[in-house]
Amino acid sequence: MNKNKSLKNKVAIITGSSGLLGQQFCKILLKNGVIVIGIDKVIKNKINHENIFYKKIDITNELVVKKFVSSVVKKFGHIDILVNNAASKSSKTKEFFRDYESYNYSTWKEIMSVNLDAVFLLTKYVGKDMVRKKINGKIIQIASIYGLIGPDQKLYENGKYKGIKMSSPAVYSASKAAVIGLTKYLATYWGSKGIRVNAITPGGIDGGQNSTFRKKYSKRVPLGRMADKNEIEGALLYLVSDDSSYVTGQNIIIDGGFSSW
Ligand SMILES: NC(=O)c1ccc[n+]([C@@H]2O[C@H](COP(=O)([O-])OP(=O)(O)OC[C@H]3O[C@@H](n4cnc5c(N)ncnc54)[C@H](O)[C@@H]3O)[C@@H](O)[C@H]2O)c1
Repeated sequence: MNKNKSLKNKVAIITGSSGLLGQQFCKILLKNGVIVIGIDKVIKNKINHENIFYKKIDITNELVVKKFVSSVVKKFGHIDILVNNAASKSSKTKEFFRDYESYNYSTWKEIMSVNLDAVFLLTKYVGKDMVRKKINGKIIQIASIYGLIGPDQKLYENGKYKGIKMSSPAVYSASKAAVIGLTKYLATYWGSKGIRVNAITPGGIDGGQNSTFRKKYSKRVPLGRMADKNEIEGALLYLVSDDSSYVTGQNIIIDGGFSSW
């Protein structure tokens, strides 16, 4: 990917920066001259670079988010880019994968609070500052194919994630579909302010699943494999740069063709 000059010294917040995709997103933006503030509830997998700043925060707490955004604005003057990438598999992963009929409402709310409510909180406070400062901001939300189509339940028989029996729970689909809806809403809401809001929808990324799942899933994909973690960042770079200056309210699907048949 060529360096994008329009991004030099832009200020970006990336949520879920310690995770599989979060790290990739931080790296590609740093490579293009962006000043990155990575936030996560657990800070790990840190990148050694002079332009990255990490902050351990829980993005589901409104007061914490409000204070964090104003501290970034105080330090850097304004925010150009927001990447809402964090998602939760619950503090108890086994609970996240529970059957629908026995799904606990507390788990449902826990997942919604990260996957959807935190997106509201971050866009509210970051967007408010972008509007006030007349910044042509770029907001990118990371959704999922399961926000577009229902999961093929057969893929999950004998599937394991980090050793735990896995499924694709309804709360995940519901939260990601809502993120796509919110993206379209905000694109029209802030369009006249020059703020562009888009989503990226990845398909299954290789990482943590057992070989039974990986094989079954790969058979279901026209390209015959899961995505590599570095195959999503090109879309992010496009959406945050001036190359996409007339693109808003869109959802770039990167799924190897999974949703095409
Ligand atoms: N990995 C995949 O196969 C895949 C497929 C489609 C979509 N996605 C989406 O891509 C995004 C990134 O996925 P990933 O695989 O890198 O996930 P990940 O689990 O590796 O990373 C998510 C990060 O979010 C952080 N987080 C969770 N709750 C938080 C909170 N309350 N406050 C702050 N940080 C919090 C976690 O600590 C974690 O580091 C997610 O939105 C996910 O739904 C992933």
